Amino acid sequence: MARRSAAEEPAQHRYAQLRELLREAIATGELKPGEALPPERELAERHGISRMTVRQALSDLVADGLLYRQPGLGTFVANPKIAQPLSRLTSFTEDMRSRGLKPGSQMLGIEVVEATHEVARALEVDRQSRVLRVRRLRLADGQPMALESVHLPLPRFAALVAEDLTDSSLYRILEERMGVHLARARQFLEPASAGPQEVQGLGIRPGSLLLLLERVTYDPEDVPVEYVRSFYRGDRYRFVVDLTRL
Ligand code: GLP
Repeated sequence: MARRSAAEEPAQHRYAQLRELLREAIATGELKPGEALPPERELAERHGISRMTVRQALSDLVADGLLYRQPGLGTFVANPKIAQPLSRLTSFTEDMRSRGLKPGSQMLGIEVVEATHEVARALEVDRQSRVLRVRRLRLADGQPMALESVHLPLPRFAALVAEDLTDSSLYRILEERMGVHLARARQFLEPASAGPQEVQGLGIRPGSLLLLLERVTYDPEDVPVEYVRSFYRGDRYRFVVDLTRL
């Protein structure tokens, strides 16, 4: 990072300059994931700006997910976000493998529950009919990525209770063992903030930004197979949509 003399410039410009300098150093790989940034005091001296200004620049990059702070240890370069295309009906396992990451899951529960209004509507079943709920923490290279809660109609998918879904793919079991073809899905994406459950499961701070993904997947007869709510870590994910102009 080049030293810049910024004595005459307003603090606002100086902080934006440092922020962009760091952003570029991360983009070019000059600063690598996991690398610690020099202490704020050192950055302030090096760039001839106040510690307050340094802190402001770092806070912006923390908010953007490029840096993260570890209290008492300093500020570090974050892992790059996973860019997830939204146009294909893929499973978590496929998504992670295609990026060279090892998919995994921690089972949080598999149980028969009564369909809530929301679940019943999505799965097109009667309210309070029994559905299977599978809750998993999804991991990539052992790191928590998403908290996922899948509902499937019963009795059609009762056989899943006997399956070990810990480190295997639900889609693979559905397609290969149960002969269910997954034809299409409708997915909604919206921002959410981490509540106590997500904080505990994903190991993030309360209020951290999450992306809530809701998906209903259908078989070729357009019968709903699954209704899923997944909370993805906002600091590890971004979604990509390819657009074509008609
Ligand atoms: C993604 C989807 C879910 C789907 C899951 C299956 O996470 N959002 O709707 O249930 O993949 O993943 P896997 O086959 O790896 O268990």
